[in-house]
Amino acid sequence: MITHDQTNPGSSRRDFIKTSTAVVVGSGLASGLGFPGAYAAGTDEIRVGVIGCGGRGTGAIDNVLSSATGVRLVAVGDLFKDRLQDSMKNLAKHGEKAAVPADRQFVGWDAYQKVIASDVNYIILATPPAFRPMYLKAAIEAGKNVFTEKPVAVDSAGIKQVYELADLSKSKGLAVVAGTQRRHHAAYLETLKRVKDGAIGDVVALRVFWNQGGLWTKPRQPEWTDMEWQLRNWLYFTWLSGDHIVEQHVHNLDVGRWAMGDKLPVRVFGVGGRQARTAPEYGHIFDHFGLDYEFDNGVHMLSMCRQQPGTPGLVAEALQGTKGSCDTQDGRRYEINGPSAWKWSGEYTNPYQQEHTDLIASIRAGKPLNELRQVADSTLCAIAGREAAYTGKVISLEQFMAAPESIMPGKLEFGPIAVPAVPVPGNGQTM
Ligand SMILES: NC(=O)c1ccc[n+]([C@@H]2O[C@H](COP(=O)([O-])OP(=O)(O)OC[C@H]3O[C@@H](n4cnc5c(N)ncnc54)[C@H](O)[C@@H]3O)[C@@H](O)[C@H]2O)c1
Repeated sequence: MITHDQTNPGSSRRDFIKTSTAVVVGSGLASGLGFPGAYAAGTDEIRVGVIGCGGRGTGAIDNVLSSATGVRLVAVGDLFKDRLQDSMKNLAKHGEKAAVPADRQFVGWDAYQKVIASDVNYIILATPPAFRPMYLKAAIEAGKNVFTEKPVAVDSAGIKQVYELADLSKSKGLAVVAGTQRRHHAAYLETLKRVKDGAIGDVVALRVFWNQGGLWTKPRQPEWTDMEWQLRNWLYFTWLSGDHIVEQHVHNLDVGRWAMGDKLPVRVFGVGGRQARTAPEYGHIFDHFGLDYEFDNGVHMLSMCRQQPGTPGLVAEALQGTKGSCDTQDGRRYEINGPSAWKWSGEYTNPYQQEHTDLIASIRAGKPLNELRQVADSTLCAIAGREAAYTGKVISLEQFMAAPESIMPGKLEFGPIAVPAVPVPGNGQTM
């Protein structure tokens, strides 16, 4: 049975991640060592360029530098100089491997183009989600392998573009791994394999959750334009983050889809709103969603996510099958209940590192992993759920994708940009 975390109600995502990675990192499943170096650039060296050097970007650099031998950080880019400099200070511990010369540290709106144009063969995308389709396009068209953080879009127009890029990257033989790290987590892999092999019979119902307390805000500084304030507080603006269902709960929706053989649900409806985080510093996003996704075989997936300070945490997935059930709770439990009862007792392997180990091994083996379509499908699932809650309508995923819409601002530049109204279901508001 899934248990709620009553002991640490205000725990942040950062604390959660710290807890779940603060255990011994085991050796990689596929170490990436010893593969012959046969890929486009004709060298075994992985030359990493990173776009978005904040918390996750810096963490991903740590991970990639520890994930295999022959890996070097070559170029970095960020919109803001202070964020880039903090990241560089943080990475000094890696010595030569992370010693990026000043002329390969790029700042500003075109930093991504300059990183991609550097002598890199492995791009890490870790900006806020809004920029993912644009930056994926630039990286893939330039023939780079990519590690992309999730989610990969914030609207249906972005998803359409990422679908095209998934095809393009495959046709170019590029490797693309996504930051849906449960797919590279030994405990999840073993548990989901058992489900696939019939340990709980046919899956007849799913429940997926990301419930937690609040997250950080950055107080507005007098010199900041509207755009800078929104960018530095990107979590709270739908055009930047997709809202927390897209930005965060996509992990659990991805596990649900994985258990369903990577199918997309056909429709979704549900509720959501903003009760606890109503102050202007929280932009215009919701602080809770509750949704019902339906698959083509009539199976339903309950999805619930909440970011409300002071409430108990629950980040988990629960599957009900005809012969048993399965509970997964990242960093805590992975178990099958029923006649084939089983609990994970293996060694912890850091999935944030493993995803790079797997990506690099696939490049070096000449068998590129490509997860772009998979993560785009899970992102679409989350975006459609958000729209169902924002509008109060039943959203058919097929119809939703038939007329793709963009929520990106017309111009990406520092200056005034209004905060959209908080969506009110029934007002006919869509993206
Ligand atoms: N896989 C996971 O478990 C996990 C965990 C945390 C975050 N993430 C994802 O990683 C991404 C980044 O999150 P974070 O927590 O590191 O946020 P962050 O705010 O710490 O970092 C984002 C960085 O991107 C920079 N940036 C913003 N716009 C940019 C642009 N247009 N071009 C270049 N740089 C730009 C910011 O200045 C900042 O340094 C998000 O998509 C988030 O969902 C994934």
